[in-house]
Amino acid sequence: MRILIAYLSYSGNTEEVAELLERRFQQEGISVDMYEIGFGIVPNVRDYDCLCLGTFTWDYGRTPDEVKDFVAEVGYKPDNVAIFGTGDTQFGGDAIYCQAVDKLARFYHSKWPGLKIEQSPRGHQERYVNEWIEGVLEDVTVFA
Ligand SMILES: Cc1cc2nc3c(=O)[nH]c(=O)nc-3n(C[C@H](O)[C@H](O)[C@H](O)COP(=O)(O)O)c2cc1C
Repeated sequence: MRILIAYLSYSGNTEEVAELLERRFQQEGISVDMYEIGFGIVPNVRDYDCLCLGTFTWDYGRTPDEVKDFVAEVGYKPDNVAIFGTGDTQFGGDAIYCQAVDKLARFYHSKWPGLKIEQSPRGHQERYVNEWIEGVLEDVTVFA
């Protein structure tokens, strides 16, 4: 199985989540490629069994433009897209907390609820990351 983790991170929180995911998937013997959105050539998503797409939320619930550009570049809706992201409830409360995660999960008709982490995933939230990974691994459909 091959997984692509594509993420955007300005201040490092979403990157930390991406790195936790990478480590856990690798522990399961899964081949993982990391792609930091905006850096280098966009990988061919068709080469992977699952795309984990990570984003922070910005500007009153918005999805960053770089992530929208990535989505446009991918150009189609793969079957297995799992969304994760970070946010901060101080920016407007629950209504817009990690809203980019919800929007992308809806857009891709994701099988999995989006993983939402408040700022850094270190500490008690690491549990949410691990539970989310279990869910993804249970349900990834492999068309190999
Ligand atoms: C100007 C600004 C606007 C933000 N707006 C939101 C928001 O609408 N919703 C949210 O959940 N978080 C919001 N945040 C919090 C970031 O999404 C959060 O800090 C995130 O972890 C940053 O990710 P990164 O460290 O990967 O860059 C905002 C942060 C900044 C600086």
